[in-house]
Amino acid sequence: MKIHASLLAICLSAATIRNAAGDPSVDFVKQIKPILADRCVECHNSETLLGELNLQTRALAFGKRVTGPVIVPKNAEKSLLYLVLTLPAKDKKAMPATGHRIPKDEVNLIRQWITEGANWPEGKDGAIAPQHKKAKN
Ligand code: HEC
Repeated sequence: MKIHASLLAICLSAATIRNAAGDPSVDFVKQIKPILADRCVECHNSETLLGELNLQTRALAFGKRVTGPVIVPKNAEKSLLYLVLTLPAKDKKAMPATGHRIPKDEVNLIRQWITEGANWPEGKDGAIAPQHKKAKN
């Protein structure tokens, strides 16, 4: 019993460190927007509309799609935006389509953000401009 209690304590403290600000909810602008800007919007914007998906604004990301909704607030398991990050790299639906996997803590943040309701503000705060990066080798 003692062992269980201390393991639980370790898990809880790890979870607390992550949200050190005392605010348990994920902040779209600070935590999710940079991930999308850095890893997704270069291929999913109004000019480069791969998979016919534009992730530049909430309205676009929440638009109806043939393959199903990209984001289902509070249900990460039904959200393609999360599911595609969990696929094995060799799966052709795995994202990012570059073959790189995004770090587990970022995948978890996206999962948590969706579970908390996928708050994505309208307007400037929620708008993501594509970063025209040079291809890295
Ligand atoms: C190098 C370009 C590229 C990058 C970077 C990229 N994608 Fe994609 N994405 C694609 C392509 C190509 C498709 C279409 C794949 C298909 O339908 O087979 C696609 C499709 C998708 C779909 C739709 C899947 C479906 O079944 O309709 C989602 C959701 C998605 N991407 C999310 C993301 C997310 C989230 C990121 C960032 C972590 C990301 N993508 C990064 C190229 C990219």
